[in-house]
Amino acid sequence: MSDAKPVILKIGGSAITDKTGELAAKTEIINRLAEEIKRADLDNLIIVHGGGSFGHPTAAKYGIKEGYKDDPTQKLGFAETHHVMTVLNGLVMDALIWHEVPAISIAPSSCFLTDNGKIKFFDETVLKQMQKMMFTPVLYGDAVLDDKLGFTVLSGDQLVAYLAIRYKAQKIVVGVDTDGLFDADPKTNPNAKPYKHLTLAELKQIQPKLGKATGTDVTGGMAGKIAELIPVVEQGIHVTVTGATKGLSIYRALTDQSVLGTEIEK
Ligand code: IPE
Repeated sequence: MSDAKPVILKIGGSAITDKTGELAAKTEIINRLAEEIKRADLDNLIIVHGGGSFGHPTAAKYGIKEGYKDDPTQKLGFAETHHVMTVLNGLVMDALIWHEVPAISIAPSSCFLTDNGKIKFFDETVLKQMQKMMFTPVLYGDAVLDDKLGFTVLSGDQLVAYLAIRYKAQKIVVGVDTDGLFDADPKTNPNAKPYKHLTLAELKQIQPKLGKATGTDVTGGMAGKIAELIPVVEQGIHVTVTGATKGLSIYRALTDQSVLGTEIEK
């Protein structure tokens, strides 16, 4: 049984899918990440992954984030958005179980409700029991029901922030498709400078400038992701943002070793 504070790993959709395509999973990266997670061997880990080219294009097509507008096709769109997320989640679960990680998937649409896009209700009973038995819960950005909007998109980043604060996480590791945060997009700008260390005040200053993602992103790109993390850093929880597409950064970050990336602390 474990009552230890959890470590939370967010795997960005940009790392495990090709965000410029549709339903394009990067299975080699998913497999390598599963291997790194197994090697880190944490018994109090919670994994949350993003949607990338699975959730975002479908959610954008049907306007799921903005809510239900009395359009019956949107209901099918909601169901489809949730479904494609379960397909991506299935690939992540396949890799984790193949690598002998005792991972169990939790569908956020079945245990979270939002109010105008913000988490309002979470039934934690099953997650708590999984943690006690040292399973590794795996959640993901999902289409969820919303009190005011009918439904919306709950990002993996909001889930990470909520779980980190609720369970007083030891730390958060965010795996993305770049080596941490930069002052410009390193994929298009060779002069982009990495931020190696950011304080809360510095994070607040750079957050609005972090910009959009490549491809369709209904949850606000890097600026949206970092906005979710600000309250977490305010609570004194350490955040490491590092590359998940190249070997060992996630393993190293999970096991408290130095990585190429951005360390964020209060
Ligand atoms: C998005 O989750 C989920 C859906 C669009 C249904 P995230 O916002 O966490 O996904 P990424 O990491 O940006 O791809």
